[in-house]
Amino acid sequence: MKIAVTGATGQLGTLVIAQLKTQVSTENLVALARNTEKAGALGTEVRPFDYAQPEILAKSLQGVDRLLLISSSEIGHRFAQHSNVIAAAQQAGVKWIVYTSLLHAPESSLSLAGEHVATEKLLAESGIAHTILRNGWYHENFISSIQASVAMGTYAGSAGEGKISAASRQDFAEAAAKVILDEKHIGKVYELAGDTAYTLTELSSEISEQSGKEVSYANMPEAAYADILKGAGLPAGLAEAIAGWDTSISQGDLLDESKQLSQLIGRPTSPVADTVQAALKQ
Ligand SMILES: NC(=O)c1ccc[n+]([C@@H]2O[C@H](COP(=O)([O-])OP(=O)(O)OC[C@H]3O[C@@H](n4cnc5c(N)ncnc54)[C@H](OP(=O)(O)O)[C@@H]3O)[C@@H](O)[C@H]2O)c1
Repeated sequence: MKIAVTGATGQLGTLVIAQLKTQVSTENLVALARNTEKAGALGTEVRPFDYAQPEILAKSLQGVDRLLLISSSEIGHRFAQHSNVIAAAQQAGVKWIVYTSLLHAPESSLSLAGEHVATEKLLAESGIAHTILRNGWYHENFISSIQASVAMGTYAGSAGEGKISAASRQDFAEAAAKVILDEKHIGKVYELAGDTAYTLTELSSEISEQSGKEVSYANMPEAAYADILKGAGLPAGLAEAIAGWDTSISQGDLLDESKQLSQLIGRPTSPVADTVQAALKQ
């Protein structure tokens, strides 16, 4: 039984491969990578896999039974790229695809949701058995803001008092590995999020406590936050997208209290305090 993982060189993919290696012989694991040299360090079979090169994908999926399709990081190109992967999986006879989507994708106002919803629909129409992991935010998304906030004394955002049910990448990686190893998950849709939700005000308090420096949360309109991000050097499109995601957070779009993630991994999800500690040490 061969399991292949896309985005294997990414931060989530690397953790998933490490997790799978504890339970599956490396001969049965395939790291699918755009950068095959980087994937060499993973210690599994490596096959070339650039989503934007449809002509190479089916060959790299030969003999693969189960495919973890980790969503592409190229926002705006993702649906076309995922379509290429799903078409190649059909051609190669992949039996089961597990896809990493977005928390509450069909109802979400996050600008990221559209490409995930379209991918989920394509999977439903593909005729291939599939499982959807609708992942919430990673705690690690906040690392650079945590570090900047200590220097500034304020944590900027436009998320209001919206609660975020984030978890660590390791938590999501363990869930993905658990799911792809057990066929009982075929056909399921999981809303995966952290056990304990927090606001950016609460995150700021945690930063203050751990750093010993007063950090207060400065909430502002979306456009003002986007301007701050642009001023910090982010490209305009990305800055506006991030500020927009905060507005979605303020509406509760990243809150989930179902605890499906901790149920899957069989332990509580990691607290954000651990990520704050790691961020402050860097
Ligand atoms: N839940 C969240 O909070 C959150 C946050 C950020 C991202 N995400 C989503 O979750 C995914 C995994 O997260 P992550 O932290 O592991 O992201 P990441 O570290 O940026 O990794 C992205 C992976 O996608 C690969 N990739 C990008 N474009 C590709 C292409 N054209 N062909 C083949 N591979 C391609 C990258 O390959 P290279 O090594 O060659 O670049 C890398 O392996 C992301 O891609 C994104 O869709 C979720």
